[in-house]
Amino acid sequence: MIIPVSSGKGGVGKTTFALNMALTLARRRTTVLVDLDPGTSSLRSFLDMPIQRDLYHFIKRDVPLKECTLGLNRSLDPEGLFRRFRVIASPASFIDEIVNMETAHMEKLQRGLMELDVDYVILDNRAGLDRHVLEFMPLANSGILIFTPRLRAATLTAAEMVRAALIRACRQVFSAPDDDLAVLAGRELPDSREYLEQLDAFSHQPAGPVFDLWLEWVRERIGDCLLTRVLERVVSGYRVFFVLNQFDSVEDSAEQVVRPFMERLYKSVSQRVTAINVGWMVASDEIRRSGESGLPYLLMQHYRRRRKDPDAERWEGFLRDLAGLQQRPPHRKQAVPLDDELNRQVELLNRMYVHNAGRNPETNLDFIAERLIGFTSNTTHRCGMRRFLSPLEWLRELQTWV
Ligand SMILES: Nc1ncnc2c1ncn2[C@@H]1O[C@H](COP(=O)(O)OP(=O)(O)OP(=O)(O)O)[C@@H](O)[C@H]1O
Ligand SMILES: [Mg+2]
Repeated sequence: MIIPVSSGKGGVGKTTFALNMALTLARRRTTVLVDLDPGTSSLRSFLDMPIQRDLYHFIKRDVPLKECTLGLNRSLDPEGLFRRFRVIASPASFIDEIVNMETAHMEKLQRGLMELDVDYVILDNRAGLDRHVLEFMPLANSGILIFTPRLRAATLTAAEMVRAALIRACRQVFSAPDDDLAVLAGRELPDSREYLEQLDAFSHQPAGPVFDLWLEWVRERIGDCLLTRVLERVVSGYRVFFVLNQFDSVEDSAEQVVRPFMERLYKSVSQRVTAINVGWMVASDEIRRSGESGLPYLLMQHYRRRRKDPDAERWEGFLRDLAGLQQRPPHRKQAVPLDDELNRQVELLNRMYVHNAGRNPETNLDFIAERLIGFTSNTTHRCGMRRFLSPLEWLRELQTWV
């Protein structure tokens, strides 16, 4: 499963989260962390170990990607507790072809990532929104977005990322061969570009939730055919998974993050999209210091107190219950009123917080890892992606949803 970690703005804790999350997952499953933020190559400074091979060797020297993965060295992981963890670093220096990857290189990297024979591939994305970030996001969900009450602007920008990701998911449908589109629409679509132009027009001057307006327009135009339903499903099936970093209180997070994000999402993107809070990480001086020392927080913790493996069984029933994993996720034909949705989010936050003694970052990470494993092994809650999909593969997948 490939899970990108992204954020609307920089400095919200993507690398910190991606690294510690990958380490937490690696206690349970094989996990590779990939630094997709070349130029700053911050991951290198978070991991104090020699790095002989990186993306440069894969992209420019044709070294197989698997051979560019590195395990932790002895000084970081003396007892091999994290032997299922590997990392792919970015070059330490600025290499234009890697920082500004052309399409052929991106596709090469995507193929390489799909061929890695591991349970989880965590992508540490660069901040904000550009072609590079978008191309590595799933079509059906946001991967994990990092929000923090410390930087409200990042949360609002994240709503724009969702909009851009959804536009891409719709574009991808219209990039499928004309014949396939015609079959779904039950007629020739002489000018399929018109649909995307209309979407751009709604998007450019949003007079409401762009995708809801557009889907209405599509429905009026081609009626209730399979193509209409597929497009509706792109939106109503879309999931935004988010993690709150530097969490300090339920009230603060609800007011500073969840409310503004949901409001922006509802007002200018769609009322059908589902947002799922995966968990949070509290602000901690130890995390901050570990970022500076090159010894990841989680390694520090494990070697300080040699805890036993968390008992997955114990968590599972509790988490299923808490996360509502046993229920089918809503397929939002009808809009859910914003206040209901906000109340639901705050209630979930409260429940997670009360049950999870949520003040310890290590417990936070265990909690998120268990939830992620739940979401990714459950076909009704898609989080991340198994593969990067071509337009035709994407269309085929969507057809199985309607
Ligand atoms: N939960 C936390 N508690 C304390 N400090 C944190 C926490 N999360 C992140 N930080 C600190 O915040 C700073 C920014 O974190 P990080 O580099 O992970 O952000 P980023 O989103 O990856 O940034 P960029 O966009 O530049 O890649 C770092 O100094 C890190 O140690
Ligand atoms: Mg980073």
